[in-house]
Amino acid sequence: MPQNALLAIDQGTTSSRAIVFSENAEIIASSQLEFTQFYPNDGWVEHDPEEIWSTTLTVCKDAIAIAQEAGYLIKSIGITNQRETTVVWDRKTGKAIYNAIVWQDRRTADICAKLSSKNIDLSSRSGLRLDPYFSATKIAWILDNVEGARQRASAGDLAFGTIDTFLIWRLTGGVVHATDTTNASRTNLMNLHTLAWDDELLSLFNVPAAVLPEIKQSEDDFGTTADGLLDQRYPIGGVAGDQQAALIGQCCFTPGTLKSTYGTGCFALVNTGETPLRSSNQLLTTVGYSINGKTSYALEGSIFIAGAAVQWLRDGIKVIDNAKQTKALAETVEDSHGVVLVPAFAGLGAPHWDPHARGSVFGLTRGTTEAHLARAALESVCYQTHDLLNAMQQDGIEVASIRVDGGMVANNWVCQYLADILNIDVVRPQVMETTALGAAYLAGLHCGLYKDLTQLTAQNPIDKTFEASMSSEQRSKSITRWKAAVDATRLFAQ
Ligand code: G3P
Repeated sequence: MPQNALLAIDQGTTSSRAIVFSENAEIIASSQLEFTQFYPNDGWVEHDPEEIWSTTLTVCKDAIAIAQEAGYLIKSIGITNQRETTVVWDRKTGKAIYNAIVWQDRRTADICAKLSSKNIDLSSRSGLRLDPYFSATKIAWILDNVEGARQRASAGDLAFGTIDTFLIWRLTGGVVHATDTTNASRTNLMNLHTLAWDDELLSLFNVPAAVLPEIKQSEDDFGTTADGLLDQRYPIGGVAGDQQAALIGQCCFTPGTLKSTYGTGCFALVNTGETPLRSSNQLLTTVGYSINGKTSYALEGSIFIAGAAVQWLRDGIKVIDNAKQTKALAETVEDSHGVVLVPAFAGLGAPHWDPHARGSVFGLTRGTTEAHLARAALESVCYQTHDLLNAMQQDGIEVASIRVDGGMVANNWVCQYLADILNIDVVRPQVMETTALGAAYLAGLHCGLYKDLTQLTAQNPIDKTFEASMSSEQRSKSITRWKAAVDATRLFAQ
């Protein structure tokens, strides 16, 4: 008799992955493919939607085959995705009319600057800010820069979607055009209070309602995979943006529970309960999840460059051969030798929100080596997390510990330095694939494999807790130096 399993599709910024989980959250099968990053202009980042689709389909087929071989039967599919990344396609052909504009892309910084004169209070409506990060200005850019697109959009011939929506469309053979509240809450077009598209925001950003998908809960009926696509038809029962999926996978279901995921960027989300909380410290208000008719909100701090700083060491200035080397290198030196790296390669996110900032390195001497740079890159991720935690605390949120996940925190050194700088416990779970796990949980909740959130909380035990051991004098010295480097970086951009 085959055992129950759930397939999670995790379509991220640099790779597409499929992971099959058993009912008890064990990983049964996993498949991953990287795809091409395009940088056609200064500050522009694009993906080819066809490559996103083909890699996603391939990894799904691989993972399903492995799971079946091991005696598992997939009950439902959950989708989680890089958020904000924007695709516009033709409803008839299903073909995108332009490449996907990636969340990191800054091409609409000037549009945002112009819109700022309109003085609309975004934070109380969408929970977000005027920043090129979010989908709204990216949609408008595509409609204004692809010939004939505006007319086709108004005529109802074009569809917009974040990556979840694009994949749902393709997986269901064009039958379902939908998103979930978490992804919709990253567009700058959804009203956080009504969980519906907001007419005033649509008119501000000049986005026609005709292109928009239906907004559903995070566990919901997102249709069934089309005939002939996979080995059989599967229901799609869960969808959430990757950071919200990690919040679910980390079981941050009560107010004050905080998770931070270290992928390309770093995203810290703290559950704030069932009413949206407005930040006075430049954090975003976002939907945490909508499950069983209830929506929980979160405050989010978004940092654009975390793991990408290590990629830059490897691919940009080529001082390391592979990412794993960073830990060993960082440990060969006692400290960063006064070197501070501010990785503002895609501007600065929370809490500074400076789209024009550029990365910088301070404190170089003749004695600086690649080991000091590697160490400074890892440290920068911890300092940035400190800035986010600080903003959350200033917003009145009491946080006892931080649950971490993502590639970088497999590195014990990073976790320890993080605990030292944050001065709270850093908790690492056994299953580190919490983003995919969150998507699987949603699908499992929808198909009835799980009863409720309480049942999930016991599923992913802790691997290790890291406690702060740095002296407060050393901590405050390091943080003061970091702040000075950030200030100088921002000054340089002006
Ligand atoms: O908001 C962007 C975020 O969703 C991207 O996540 O893991 O692909 O870097 P990741």
